[in-house]
Amino acid sequence: MARNQKYDVLFEPIKLGPKTSKNRFYKAPHCTALGVERPGAQAYFRSIATEGGWGIVNTEYCSIHPESDDTPYVSARLWDDGDVRNLALMCERIHDQGGLAGVQLWYGSKHALNYETRVAPRGVSQVPSDYVPYQSCTSMSKRDIREIQGFYVAAAERARLAGFDMINVYGGHTHPILHQFLEPFYNKRTDEYGGTLNNRARMWLETLEMVREAVGDSCAISCRFGIDTLRGDLGIKAEEDGIGFVQLADHLVDLWDFTIGNLEWGEDAGPSRFFKENFQRPLVEIVKPYASKPVVGVGRFTSPDVMVDAIKRGQLDMIGAARPSIADPFLPKKIEEGRNDDIRECIGCNICVSRWAIGAARIACTQNATAGEEYRRGWHPERFSRVANEDSNVLVVGAGPAGMECATVLAKRGFGSVHLVDAASELGGSLRWIPRLPGLGEWGRVVDYRRVQLDKLKNVEINLKTTLDAKMIREYGADFVVVATGSRWAEKGINGATHEPIPGADASLPYCLTPEQIMVEGKRPVGQRVLVYDCDGYYMGGVLAEKFARDGYAVTLVTPLSQISPFTEYTLELPRIKRTLLGLNVEVVTEHSLDFIEPGIAKGSHIYDPRKSSTWEIDSVVLVTCRNSNESLFRELEADPDTLAREGIKGVYRIGDCVSPRLIVDAIFEGHRLAREIDTANPAVPLPYIREYRVLGQSDVDFDAVLDSKRAEPRSSRSKFSISN
Ligand SMILES: Cc1cc2nc3c(=O)[nH]c(=O)nc-3n(C[C@H](O)[C@H](O)[C@H](O)COP(=O)(O)O)c2cc1C
Ligand code: SF4
Repeated sequence: MARNQKYDVLFEPIKLGPKTSKNRFYKAPHCTALGVERPGAQAYFRSIATEGGWGIVNTEYCSIHPESDDTPYVSARLWDDGDVRNLALMCERIHDQGGLAGVQLWYGSKHALNYETRVAPRGVSQVPSDYVPYQSCTSMSKRDIREIQGFYVAAAERARLAGFDMINVYGGHTHPILHQFLEPFYNKRTDEYGGTLNNRARMWLETLEMVREAVGDSCAISCRFGIDTLRGDLGIKAEEDGIGFVQLADHLVDLWDFTIGNLEWGEDAGPSRFFKENFQRPLVEIVKPYASKPVVGVGRFTSPDVMVDAIKRGQLDMIGAARPSIADPFLPKKIEEGRNDDIRECIGCNICVSRWAIGAARIACTQNATAGEEYRRGWHPERFSRVANEDSNVLVVGAGPAGMECATVLAKRGFGSVHLVDAASELGGSLRWIPRLPGLGEWGRVVDYRRVQLDKLKNVEINLKTTLDAKMIREYGADFVVVATGSRWAEKGINGATHEPIPGADASLPYCLTPEQIMVEGKRPVGQRVLVYDCDGYYMGGVLAEKFARDGYAVTLVTPLSQISPFTEYTLELPRIKRTLLGLNVEVVTEHSLDFIEPGIAKGSHIYDPRKSSTWEIDSVVLVTCRNSNESLFRELEADPDTLAREGIKGVYRIGDCVSPRLIVDAIFEGHRLAREIDTANPAVPLPYIREYRVLGQSDVDFDAVLDSKRAEPRSSRSKFSISN
């Protein structure tokens, strides 16, 4: 199908200094924890996006010198010739697909942990980091300034050697030193590098000039600029220094890459719970008129209409995207081919961020199970190997995220027929009701995308409102059975803190409620005073507290954990969750366990000092304690292998929460993995994957051979570095 003409503007080429991007799609710099550690995965992950149509594809932040080492977090690096060689593979693959490769130069100063190199960082002024509070820096002399500018130039020259087309001189999120020089919050200097805007901008302007002088005739120079650090008078304000810096540096850049926020970077990588698409527009529109060079901006762009609108209105010249490009590396191509309904829209959950933020865990995406798996498992987001046993039929029991993903991939692989069966009247499992919680509407895209795919696949049959017991499954006529029956919130308060139920907790009582009872069965709290007990630590406790507070209840949120919803620190949602709950007058009690519940009262104690007990006069208790797998059906099936064999069933597998209650990202991954590998010798055990690590006795030449053979793609050539996990 041809693309709709109204989207033509997105596919116009755009000249950026010495380079021309084939279209207006820009994959913004974002980390993956692949970086310097996994050059193969780095090259494949980034170049898949070029194949999917992104005109420019960037690295993550790229350290320019050992003095800026972010260990245990994994960045890219351009320290030496080895880094040049490794990043050259990424550039080569991007060029093969007709795209431009960008690299983001970063010197983190006091925010860089330097746990690997153990060097003291140099910084604008000697004040401890607000990001790593126990770390400070050496205050830079003018000689230091020149040396660090030299690091930038050397890294830019290496970048050119590696084949990069665009050098992004990074100054956003107050993460690199250049932004720290500009921001009065960091810059306390009294020399010509501190004080007025011209002085605070000097370090960055000089660096831009030097980099431009060194590589500007062969590489485009872009500048990621945090136009507003959202810190009021001590920070950079869009209408003051934001405009001012653009006016000072405009002649030195070929592309402006605008972003917002500081190291509380959830204001930039805004989660959908608190931010809508194109949320950075108001600040970008203040500064954009002062830029004579093209401007790219971000804001979870997934809708082609919103993108076109941003360009036609003059808000942006290029559409930048980090998360939308992770969730769907083929987003531009799908628009180009008139397949907008196939776009796998980012849901704004920030699980991708969490993997990196936890420390060195490779990228994962709730929507795109193949993210980060392109090289090591050979998975392509849009292509699926034909199944070996085409005539076989598969029955998937349970149409939650794991079951839907599994059924979709099985059908795309060409199984004779795939039946997806669920007792409920709608697809989605827990995602039928989670998107109705405050702020979580976009999570419904997990179901929407898969529903569209399943509807298009001729070999899929969906049977809802259908409950199958073990006997019916055995007699169904399927060759393979996949059980994806999900999990349920505990009804008696068993939890990870005590490993015991809570005396008096019982969801069959009118004043004890589980999340499913509230959201699926419509059970309401009795009385006005609600205590939410959260041992889970992710979003559910906080979001239910928010819901009941908004509904007018007096809410107390109690948790044995050291802060509310601690996992959401990694998804960047925590600061806003705290502000929201405090704003709604929710009483927050941390580090307290709930010891027993009786009508009108809940009693608890401090987890570090059990002598300190608390009594809460409440009317109802919401039990967000833990989930348990709905596994009885699977257990019954596996207990009778003889009957399964008699009925011609070749395999029974389980996936998702039915195995172990986990994040949606992991349930979907498991459904995807099984569908990719169901025709292998033992589908229950994942196939080995490539590990990128040094093996004693093997030389660089051996390692290069593996990378070279990957360029030719045969899967068998990957065996050398494979292991079973
Ligand atoms: C997983 C992840 C890692 C990121 N890492 C970087 C980074 O290394 N450098 C950077 O400038 N921005 C980084 N960002 C911010 C993005 O470039 C972008 O500004 C932000 O996510 C908003 O764009 P989006 O709504 O299209 O995701 C990262 C974002 C994500 C989601
Ligand atoms: S993990 Fe969530 S936020 Fe990140 S790209 Fe995937 S869907 Fe979007």
